[in-house]
Amino acid sequence: MKQLNVGILGLGTVGGGTYTVLKRNATEITRRTGVEINVVQVADRNLAHAKALATDADVTDDAFAVVNNPAVDVVVELIGGYTLSRELVLKAIANKKHVVTANKALIALHGNEIFAAAKANNVIVAFEAAVAGGIPIIKALREGLGANRIEWVAGIINGTTNFILTEMREKGLNFADVLGEAQRLGYAEADPTFDVEGVDAAHKLTIMSAIAFGMPMKFEQAYTEGITKLEQVDIKYAEELGYRVKLLGITKRTDKGVELRVHPTLIPEKRLVANVNGAMNAVVVKGDAVGPTLYYGAGAGAEPTASAVVADLMDVARLIDATNAQRVPYLAFQPEQVQDLVILPIDDVQSAYYLRLRASDKPGVLADVTKILGDRSISIDAMLQKEPDENETEADIVILTHITVEKNMNAAIAAIEALDAITAKVVRIRMEELAK
Ligand code: HSE
Repeated sequence: MKQLNVGILGLGTVGGGTYTVLKRNATEITRRTGVEINVVQVADRNLAHAKALATDADVTDDAFAVVNNPAVDVVVELIGGYTLSRELVLKAIANKKHVVTANKALIALHGNEIFAAAKANNVIVAFEAAVAGGIPIIKALREGLGANRIEWVAGIINGTTNFILTEMREKGLNFADVLGEAQRLGYAEADPTFDVEGVDAAHKLTIMSAIAFGMPMKFEQAYTEGITKLEQVDIKYAEELGYRVKLLGITKRTDKGVELRVHPTLIPEKRLVANVNGAMNAVVVKGDAVGPTLYYGAGAGAEPTASAVVADLMDVARLIDATNAQRVPYLAFQPEQVQDLVILPIDDVQSAYYLRLRASDKPGVLADVTKILGDRSISIDAMLQKEPDENETEADIVILTHITVEKNMNAAIAAIEALDAITAKVVRIRMEELAK
């Protein structure tokens, strides 16, 4: 029987899950691949914990011992971060070892360098677990949808923020009240600002964008806006208008360039993706031939993420003797066909908008606001005026607009905020139909 010898860097949540799934499903995995996958060495700083779990493997606290071990065919990088992990992955590649990683930050920031090194050394770098945990979205984008010209991808790709938004909507809580609970439940990244400010989602979106359109990783150019400023009242008004607020990663191919943006987004509640709740993830991909398709599942956790890591190991087991030309390209497109597409600055992105205005309750305010919008050819789709509470002299006005370009909306908002009757900054949330 053919053997594949694996070295694992990091035996934390995902590493532990990977070890467990490989052992529990060993027979089934070998039936599928015709290869025995053995974990021969494991590196973890916590030697006692690693020894207790990985009873059949050599255990070390020196990760470089694994990447330099001649007996190891494939290195599984599960330590996170992007400094030491970059060094280890590049060293493994230089040693002609294949690499499987769950590290979204590493691929989004250093993927271009890593894939160039991997190509030069004819090794595989697989990263299914880096995006949406157990959902096989990389496989779907690179292979299952390979016949399509992909037009856009939109996803709920951070479980922590989806959990927070779900709690805010269902329990009427504020952002700050729910963050602590998400952290206690263990969804959040080591640094929760990566979750709540949209950085984690931008890492994952960057990766999907690169393989959807065949372009390099462009994380630095992603527009990233998190959920920390989102107010409960806007979630409530959105619901009254038939929408849910989700933190979406959206990437779209347009005539002018590629949109690459993460921000809170109103989506119609009738869309399946609007009903993805709690810590679950979902990605919608629109291909020209297939139309919109939806992928749903657990975006984090030990065994869901291990499911993706092990599937990558199985691909390595099958393709280890192939040449790069016979394998699916790293970014789905042949390396010489990867195109340096332009990323649109957020000012040039087109969107529909939800606006909330706080206005003195006196005649003519609405006329002034609609004139400002009309003068800039911004068309109104729906409007909601809330009665001021007793003893209040100000009211909330909510306006949904049709699509316009962001810089046009910025100018309109500045003009609205300059009106005497407008007493607070205008709240703006982008909207997506996700229909076609
Ligand atoms: N912190 C991430 C999330 C974990 O909340 O989705 C998985 O990448």
